[in-house]
Amino acid sequence: MAMPVVDTEYLKQIDKARRDLRALISSKNCAPIMLRLAWHDAGTYDVNTKTGGPNGSIRNEEEFSHGSNNGLKIAIDFCEEIKSKHPKITYADLYQLAGVVAVEVTGGPTVDFVPGRKDSKISPKEGRLPNATKGAPHLRDIFYRMGLSDKDIVALSGGHTLGKAHAERSGFDGPWTKEPLKFDNLYFVELLKADPEGQLRLPTDIALLDDPEFRPLVDLYAKDEDAFFRDYAVSHKKLSELGFSPSSSGSKASIKDSTLLAQSAVGVVVAAAVVVLSYLYEVRKKMK
Ligand code: HEM
Repeated sequence: MAMPVVDTEYLKQIDKARRDLRALISSKNCAPIMLRLAWHDAGTYDVNTKTGGPNGSIRNEEEFSHGSNNGLKIAIDFCEEIKSKHPKITYADLYQLAGVVAVEVTGGPTVDFVPGRKDSKISPKEGRLPNATKGAPHLRDIFYRMGLSDKDIVALSGGHTLGKAHAERSGFDGPWTKEPLKFDNLYFVELLKADPEGQLRLPTDIALLDDPEFRPLVDLYAKDEDAFFRDYAVSHKKLSELGFSPSSSGSKASIKDSTLLAQSAVGVVVAAAVVVLSYLYEVRKKMK
C-alpha cells in the first residue's frame, strides 16, 4: 500500500486523533489493551527479511486470530472509532499512536511519535511473538530478530506494569502490580519481591531475574523510576519504528517547516542590516 503523505492536513488529523484517543482510553480504561495492540502489531518485525512490524497488518482477521493476539480485536474495534473520524491516518500510525497515548495518559513517559507508517495487507505467519512459557534464550531469539537489544527486552517488559492477564485469552490470570492502570516502575519492584502476594509472574518475567545481563537492569529500574522511564521511552520509540524510517515518509510538513525557518532567518538578517545601516547613517550625519 502507498506511503501516506504527511502534509499539514495529515498532521492535523494526527493531533485530533491523539486528543480523541486520550478521551477514549480514559473513558474506557483501556490503556493496557491499546498498548498490547501497538506492541503486537510492531513485534512481528524481522530485521533480516524486513517483513512484519508496525504496519497495521494486525487488523487482518488472519493475524488477529493468531492465538497470541487473543482479545486484541477489542482494541482494534476501539481504534476503528478513531479511524472513521480521521480517515487519512494509516492503521499503522493509529495503532502506534494509541500505544504512545496509553503510556502517556496512565502517567508514563512521553514517547516521541513520528507519523508516516505505511499500511500492509500482508500478515506474517503465526509464531513471531514471544511465548510466555519460555526463558531468556527464547526472549533473545525473538527480540534480536526484531533488531532489538537486551536493554530493550528489560525496559519493554516493564510494559507489564499496565494491565493483567486473562485466563480465557492466554491461560494466565491476574495483574503484575496492585495498580494496573498506572504506568510506573512497580513491575520491577514486585518482580524482586521474594513473596509477590498474588501478583502475576510469567516464566518470561522470571527469566529477567535469572539472567546475568537482564538482572542488573531489573535492579536499576526497581530503584530508579527515572532511569526506567528514560530507557523505556527510547525502547518504545524503537519498537514503534521498526522497519520505518521517518525521513523516507514524504513528510511535506517538515519541508514546509524548514522553508519557514529559512524565511524567518532571512527576515532577521534583513532587519539587522536595516538597524546597522541606520546607525551608520546617523553617525555620518553627526560627523558632517
Ligand atoms: C517479553 C515478552 C512478552 C511476553 C511473553 C508477553 C506476554 C503477555 C501475556 C501472556 C499477556 C496476557 C494477555 C491476556 O491474557 O490478556 C500479556 C499482557 C500484556 N502485555 Fe505482554 N508480553 C511480553 C512483552 C510485552 C511488551 C514488550 C509490552 C509493551 C511494551 C507488553 C504489554 C502488555 C500489556 C499492556 C498487557 C496487558 C493487556 C491487558 O490488560 O489487556 N508485553 N503479555
